[in-house]
Amino acid sequence: MSDLPPLGTPRLFSNPRADHERAYGPSERAILSRAAFDEAMAEIGAWPGYAPTPLRSLPGLARAAGIDRIWYKDEGSRFNLNSFKALGGAYAVLRLLAREVQARVPGVPVTALDLVVGRYGKITRTLTVTTATDGNHGRSVAWGAQVFGCNCVIYVPAKCSEGRQAAIESYDARVVRVDGTYDDAVRQAASDAAANGWYVVSDTSYTGYMDTPRDVMQGYTVMVEEAISQLPTSERPTHVFIQGGVGALPAAVCGHLWESWGRQRPRLVVVEPHSADCLYRSAVAGRPAKAEGDLDTVMAGLACGEVSLLAWAILERGADDFLTIPDEAAVATMRLLADGKHGGRPIVAGESGVAGIAALLCAAADPEVRLGLGLAPDARVLVFGTEGATDPEVYQSIVGRSPDAVVNG
Ligand SMILES: Cc1ncc(COP(=O)(O)O)c(C=O)c1O
Repeated sequence: MSDLPPLGTPRLFSNPRADHERAYGPSERAILSRAAFDEAMAEIGAWPGYAPTPLRSLPGLARAAGIDRIWYKDEGSRFNLNSFKALGGAYAVLRLLAREVQARVPGVPVTALDLVVGRYGKITRTLTVTTATDGNHGRSVAWGAQVFGCNCVIYVPAKCSEGRQAAIESYDARVVRVDGTYDDAVRQAASDAAANGWYVVSDTSYTGYMDTPRDVMQGYTVMVEEAISQLPTSERPTHVFIQGGVGALPAAVCGHLWESWGRQRPRLVVVEPHSADCLYRSAVAGRPAKAEGDLDTVMAGLACGEVSLLAWAILERGADDFLTIPDEAAVATMRLLADGKHGGRPIVAGESGVAGIAALLCAAADPEVRLGLGLAPDARVLVFGTEGATDPEVYQSIVGRSPDAVVNG
């Protein structure tokens, strides 16, 4: 562990409701299922530019952490949007538009290609999708709206970076900056949508709003299936460290691994910033609970104060542990990956994207947490690097070099 920089102290809560013996049953399958995954995979896999993102082995960092393997699923190149979120929001926009067109032109199946070529443009151009975002989900929804041909209004919290706002606007979406947190932006989007007859395409679910967030989560499972097929068959991971904001991502990872591998699934550790810990608090309370304070963290994509109810329905029994980390862990890990200290080539990873691997390194360095998580020398850990430099200026201010300079040496 000696060649790792100081990473700060993690906080662990092992989930007393976790049930590793429980079969993936009808209540879970009503949220995420192999059948709905097959549909998402067939659809997203046919989009121009689709390619599985790389799964990188990081032997140097595994050695430094005193474990056998680390696999890092690198989402930095996903559909030029630089994050896994490209799989969820855009897919949900497509599903929503197809449903709305079908409701107006009954009996005719509506394909993605129909929407891309504008066959139903007279209908879709009258429709507006909207969502709240810390950056990445809104970018995916705006991209989907542009590709599939509808209008788009995106709500961002006061602290959203200018760079992330500009990236959303580059897909012709209108951006509204809310004077408050991500959760305030969620409420503003919902109330403006109700007043204007817009369609909410949110990644978080709440009472009375479940269908679209389910599509978003199902889109994410494409990434999980790719990782399954890229892992060596004889070396299943013993642990997965996966970061959460509202929890849709960890629930998608948890649900898909649970349905695919049953009891043989790895121990699933949900990771959040210390200061935006709604999933951790929900696990402690045994029901959905809110984070407190201003949710201030460098891990902007994880700055959420309220859990998605659908996500919680899976994580409540499916997640084994909840771990929170300080910002310094994310910052130090971004620099480590940029330096190529893991023994391979440098990796460009954004603030929220590194949270899972940062948590692993933090946990490995803390004897009590290490023991609590069963991180033995033969542990094999899968992490998801969920974003690249989604805001290049923020990236440079943290790492000290631009993403291009990191890649090109
Ligand atoms: C890069 C990145 N990773 C992880 C997450 C967490 O996803 P979720 O909010 O679905 O839990 C987000 C959310 O925006 C994100 O942008």
